[in-house]
Amino acid sequence: MWPLSSKELVYLSNLEVLILAGCGLNGSLPFKDMANFSSLEILDLSDNAFTGSITPYIGALSSLKAISLSVIGLNGTLNTPEFCALKKLEHIELVDNDFEGMLPSCLNNLTSLSYLDISGNRFNGNLSSSPIASLTSLEYIDLSYNLFEVFSFSLFANHSKLKVIQFLSDNNKLVIENENHSWDPLFQLKVLVLSNCNLNKLSGNFLRFLLNQHELEVVDISHSKLNGSFPIWLLENNTRLQRLNLRSNSFTGEFHLPSDHYMNLRWLDLSDNHFDGKLQENIGKRIPKLETLNLSQNYFEGNLPSSIGDMSNLEILDLSFNNFSGEVPMELVANCTSCYILRLSNNNFHGDIFSKHFKLSLTSLELQNNNFIGTLPVVPLKIQVVLNISNNHMTGLLPSCLNLQYVEHLLLQGNKLTGSLPKAILNSSSLVTLDIRDNSFIGSIPDEIDGLSNLKVLSLSGNHFSGVISKQLCQLKRIGIMDLSNNSFSGTIPYCFHNITFGKLARSYFVYTGVSAFGIGSFLLPYKSFLYTTLRIQGSGFLFPEQVEIVFVMKYRSDLYKGLILDMVSVLDLSFNKLTGEIPRTLGQLSSIHAMNLSYNQLTGPIPKSFSNLTQLESLDLSHNNLNGEIPSVLTNLTFLAAFNVNHNNLSGKVPNIKQFSTFEKSSYEGNPFLCGPPLEKSCTDIDESPPSPQIPSQANDGKWYEVNLPVFSTIFSVSYVIFFLGVVSILYINPHWRQRCFNLVEDRMYWCYFFALNTLKGLPGRMCH
Ligand SMILES: *[C@@H]1O[C@H](CO)[C@@H](O)[C@H](O)[C@H]1NC(C)=O
Ligand SMILES: *[C@@H]1O[C@H](CO)[C@@H](O)[C@H](O)[C@H]1NC(C)=O
Ligand SMILES: *[C@@H]1O[C@H](CO)[C@@H](O)[C@H](O)[C@H]1NC(C)=O
Ligand SMILES: *[C@@H]1O[C@H](CO)[C@@H](O)[C@H](O)[C@H]1NC(C)=O
Ligand SMILES: *[C@@H]1O[C@H](CO)[C@@H](O)[C@H](O)[C@H]1NC(C)=O
Ligand SMILES: *[C@@H]1O[C@H](CO)[C@@H](O)[C@H](O)[C@H]1NC(C)=O
Ligand SMILES: *[C@@H]1O[C@H](CO)[C@@H](O)[C@H](O)[C@H]1NC(C)=O
Ligand SMILES: *[C@@H]1O[C@H](CO)[C@@H](O)[C@H](O)[C@H]1NC(C)=O
Ligand SMILES: *[C@@H]1O[C@H](CO)[C@@H](O)[C@H](O)[C@H]1NC(C)=O
Ligand SMILES: *[C@@H]1O[C@H](CO)[C@@H](O)[C@H](O)[C@H]1NC(C)=O
Repeated sequence: MWPLSSKELVYLSNLEVLILAGCGLNGSLPFKDMANFSSLEILDLSDNAFTGSITPYIGALSSLKAISLSVIGLNGTLNTPEFCALKKLEHIELVDNDFEGMLPSCLNNLTSLSYLDISGNRFNGNLSSSPIASLTSLEYIDLSYNLFEVFSFSLFANHSKLKVIQFLSDNNKLVIENENHSWDPLFQLKVLVLSNCNLNKLSGNFLRFLLNQHELEVVDISHSKLNGSFPIWLLENNTRLQRLNLRSNSFTGEFHLPSDHYMNLRWLDLSDNHFDGKLQENIGKRIPKLETLNLSQNYFEGNLPSSIGDMSNLEILDLSFNNFSGEVPMELVANCTSCYILRLSNNNFHGDIFSKHFKLSLTSLELQNNNFIGTLPVVPLKIQVVLNISNNHMTGLLPSCLNLQYVEHLLLQGNKLTGSLPKAILNSSSLVTLDIRDNSFIGSIPDEIDGLSNLKVLSLSGNHFSGVISKQLCQLKRIGIMDLSNNSFSGTIPYCFHNITFGKLARSYFVYTGVSAFGIGSFLLPYKSFLYTTLRIQGSGFLFPEQVEIVFVMKYRSDLYKGLILDMVSVLDLSFNKLTGEIPRTLGQLSSIHAMNLSYNQLTGPIPKSFSNLTQLESLDLSHNNLNGEIPSVLTNLTFLAAFNVNHNNLSGKVPNIKQFSTFEKSSYEGNPFLCGPPLEKSCTDIDESPPSPQIPSQANDGKWYEVNLPVFSTIFSVSYVIFFLGVVSILYINPHWRQRCFNLVEDRMYWCYFFALNTLKGLPGRMCH
């Protein structure tokens, strides 16, 4: 809705600046109502919900110098002659709309244009023959995320003022044309961002014109399949270089800085390449001002040089997924006072990292999958958000002074920790994940566990816990994943488990924890890539940051899950314990649960009919208990059930064999002598009163996957569809390559969201609402 009436408009005819960003406006663009805004110089309508395209009425805004129509749902082409006639335009932002077609040639009238951001649309065509070649006043251009088919840098042959080129692409069809060899650029760039642009298709390793640039401050040529050795010349030629992003290319060889000190370099990302060898001893002296160093996913090896402790501004150090070995230098754990993310996971580090020198105060410490030894320190660890020491050789007790006040994710699985859960650490409302599976903890679950009021994941599996399952667990209403399997818990399943949500609460994903993480004061845009550093873990918007990985079993598969899935899936696993008594009927109220595993206990009584209300259930395992009675036929309502196992109980009667149940094979029912009907060989008609001879378990799998009866096919089809969707999601978590691609996409998009959120919060003078 356009907020101004025509009467009010009369008074606004001298208006020079109009900012209506994020005001919830809708309908078509209001240019018609702005007919006498001939003095208007700056117009910001971004972040509203208009429809249609740019109308000829825009021609009335003849003084317009800057216009932002970003994220407002426009479509159509830019082919509006009245728009091209706004000759005073210096600044155009059309980010994230649905504009399409080629860039119209009339744009070359805009001879004053210095800032053009058309990223996130569906513009297409051959950029080499586009009007951009004549827009020689351009200083800033962002062409990212469109459908352009051809691009060549000689497009900018006549541009002398150009400072920023951003071209992030997700378009596989893009062809980057070879540069004209004789071409010498007239410009000196400050920022070059070219991501995912298939630069390997160029002859030669690098863009030739880059050899002549010496004022570069930001270079991002990530995801571009480039190979060759580390481009040391880029650093040598550009002494002001602050950020270099070579992530996800195919660079090889050692990363070696032969001479000189690169005092301006703040941010270096060489991750996901094929670099190898040792790091040079004096690395910390060569790049002493570094704030972010990401060497993850390469083949680096050897000891970490102690000079790394000389990088006194270091904030983020990611060395994960390499083959580094030796001890972590004392200089790093003692001196890195600015560090907040330290990721050493998946290497060969050994030794005792929590020695008396350990003085780090971090947001995230990731040491998983190394060979660290020693005990957790008996002084409070100053770690917020993530502490992951999984799969090392840590021993000893959990110190009761382990300060979990701020830790959100504590992952200690796969060590040799012993002792009981100290009550003192269970008083933390910040803890979301507690994963201590596969250690040697003993004792019972203390009643004080109800202090962990925000816990979403509890995995105690594979320890020696005993005693009854504390009813206080039922107070942990947010739990989605509870895995108590493979312990010695006894007694009955608490009847109150239905108080736990197991996924019933509103999902927490896509809830941004706020813009504050960026510090609005240091608003560094328009160089979007700057956001990479300011993004802290809390700002990622997801409840489970990428470094939280949980193992659990579902549908007979033990997998590592991470990210969104942890927020979506709900699981109760009590298998391999000594639980007795009946299955509480109230478990049937866990209507959002996806997997329940009560196998290998001593449970008695019937399978509750109420389980037919577990409409999201995909995996149900009640095998190896003493259950009796019939398999309730109402369970056939569970349309998503893909794994069902009741073998080795004392169930009787006819096996349900319709809908999903027609897909289960006899292995699901074995060891129940009184069950009958297909898929079991025993028919239900020949029931005589004498106890039947025990069945010889048949190993042969004579059910064939294609023997699906037709009425059931449609159900299975829709189920498979859902499973396919989950499959895609899980592939993203299992396949690092796809994950990488998807995340980088999502990541970049996410920054844009922030960009606009920030834009509307900037508090510009003259703002009329918000
Ligand atoms: C793109 O346009 C340029 C200039 O008009 C032309 O030389 C080139 O062949 C075109 N490329 C393609 C793939 O059409
Ligand atoms: C650059 O300018 C020259 C001289 O004005 C012209 O001949 C040439 O075509 C222009 N190049 C491009 C790519 O527009
Ligand atoms: C940049 O480095 C390359 C390769 O070492 C060299 O050929 C070129 O002259 C250098 N350019 C400048 C401006 O120093
Ligand atoms: C380092 O790079 C890897 C791979 O490119 C990425 O997954 C990871 O998130 C980066 N680390 C940090 C701390 O940003
Ligand atoms: C990692 O380094 C160790 C020596 O520290 C070596 O034995 C091993 O082969 C290396 N692994 C790989 C994958 O390079
Ligand atoms: C739990 O922590 C709060 C705040 O840190 C404190 O006030 C309270 O006394 C603690 N409770 C117990 C039982 O330790
Ligand atoms: C149970 O946990 C122990 C370690 O405590 C492990 O060795 C064993 O494989 C686990 N059993 C199952 C069935 O997961
Ligand atoms: C239930 O748990 C047991 C033991 O952890 C495991 O072997 C089995 O595969 C699980 N059942 C399902 C259906 O995932
Ligand atoms: C399923 O849930 C509904 C609503 O909560 C309840 O009325 C019904 O009795 C439940 N069915 C069974 C079999 O428990
Ligand atoms: C199994 O169930 C039958 C009745 O269906 C009962 O007669 C028998 O005693 C039960 N066996 C055990 C071991 O509980």
